[in-house]
Amino acid sequence: MGESVNWRIDNFMKKNGLIIAIDGPAAVGKSTMGKLVARELGFLYIDTGAIYRAITWKVLKNNINKNDENMISDLVSNTSIIIERENTNSPKDYYHIFVDGEDVTEEIRNPKIDRNVSQIARLPKIRKQLIYLQRKLAEKGNIVMEGRDIGSVILPKADIKLYFTASEEERIRRRYKELIDKGYNVDYEEVKKQIVQRDEIDSKRKYAPLIKAKDAILIDSTEKSIEEVKNEILKIIKKQRKCRGKTN
Ligand code: CDP
Repeated sequence: MGESVNWRIDNFMKKNGLIIAIDGPAAVGKSTMGKLVARELGFLYIDTGAIYRAITWKVLKNNINKNDENMISDLVSNTSIIIERENTNSPKDYYHIFVDGEDVTEEIRNPKIDRNVSQIARLPKIRKQLIYLQRKLAEKGNIVMEGRDIGSVILPKADIKLYFTASEEERIRRRYKELIDKGYNVDYEEVKKQIVQRDEIDSKRKYAPLIKAKDAILIDSTEKSIEEVKNEILKIIKKQRKCRGKTN
């Protein structure tokens, strides 16, 4: 991993499949929607947040200082991250992520990871190492990739860029419910603090911050049902495909 930061964007823009980039702040529903849309279209779905979470998991496991960029960079170079698609209809189990062969799919959603991930994701060296991996994953197209810098840095030539928003209150409510449903004993105020803090670090970092790409379409999901947002996105995709005259 991380062997080539200079991997050319044009290399993968062979146009053999549609590339959809989704960005937005924490707990805005990118994953829920990304999975649903990908499944509907038969596309590959890549949650890049899971990659940063997986690295954070390994950093914490090895008691590495979160500010030690060089040490974390070495660790990233010596880490195997594999994302495996599940053949299931359950959105929950849509993919599994393995770090050095260990399935960490569930563990990376632990609130402990939430508390630390943004501090590691803000390190430029680490982000640069991950560019290659993310572009490689998108290489063949017919993919939905979501994160914070997908439309702006990772896949600037994506066919469709969506930027999700929802009120802070709604996002906190959704994440709190999600964690409680999973059985974590979390406090509402603590969840709120983590989300606000993460958004702050993610949007203020110097390198590849959370940002709406100029050509991204804004989707506000605050008062919309999952079904409504899904239909809105599918409509946008349909229109784009028509414009491109594609049949895939
Ligand atoms: O699911 P949630 O919105 O809470 O977060 P996530 O998408 O799993 O991302 C976790 C963290 O990874 C974010 O808060 C960012 O710090 C980092 N991240 C990033 O920096 N760049 C990305 N493309 C994706 C995630």
